[in-house]
Amino acid sequence: MPNQRHSGTGDNVTGDQTKIERQIIQGSGSTYIEHAAPEQKFPKELTARIPKTAPDKIVGRDAELDDLHHWLFDNKQVVLVNGMGGISKTTLAQVYTAKYWDEYRHVVWVSQVSQDVINDFVNTEGLLDSLNIRASGIQEAKDLFINIMTGLKKMDDQPNLLITDNADVTLGSIYDYLPQTSCGISW
Ligand SMILES: Nc1ncnc2c1ncn2[C@@H]1O[C@H](COP(=O)(O)OP(=O)(O)O)[C@@H](O)[C@H]1O
Ligand SMILES: [Mg+2]
Repeated sequence: MPNQRHSGTGDNVTGDQTKIERQIIQGSGSTYIEHAAPEQKFPKELTARIPKTAPDKIVGRDAELDDLHHWLFDNKQVVLVNGMGGISKTTLAQVYTAKYWDEYRHVVWVSQVSQDVINDFVNTEGLLDSLNIRASGIQEAKDLFINIMTGLKKMDDQPNLLITDNADVTLGSIYDYLPQTSCGISW
């Protein structure tokens, strides 16, 4: 009798367990859909255009690339590569990006073409979209720029690389907004 009771109970439990399991699966499915925050996945290439140049396409510059990697990657410094046109500032940034591509989680490339670098951040193809920032027509460029910086600072995977090519003195006015611990900047 004890065996029968045990067996009967076991069968019942087994049957019930199956039901409970289904309920749990359905329940946890609903719970997930209703309550779990959607996982935010940001693309590695946060801007549509990230020019790269293979290291073997240029002559020399190994020492400069090593220095850049040390300053940007190890020290997390903001690095300013300054000098007259044609000395290979842009090329160095492109080769750096290509050479150390696998070491970064997110990369941003902004080229300054306007008179205020804030406009160039806002107008860089893909950046607002990548960060899920919706631009309404009435928004000031400065506000959108701040939204971009806030978005960049929210990246919880690191390290990341932000390059501002062809930047002029207006970059100084946004220095305090840039993601710190950073990148051009590594952050
Ligand atoms: N190390 C290099 N080896 C070969 N060509 C280079 C090298 N650095 C720059 N160049 C070439 O020189 C030109 C100017 O370089 P660029 O990077 O645009 O200079 P900058 O940004 O300082 O004005 C480009 O055509 C580039 O391809
Ligand atoms: Mg240049």
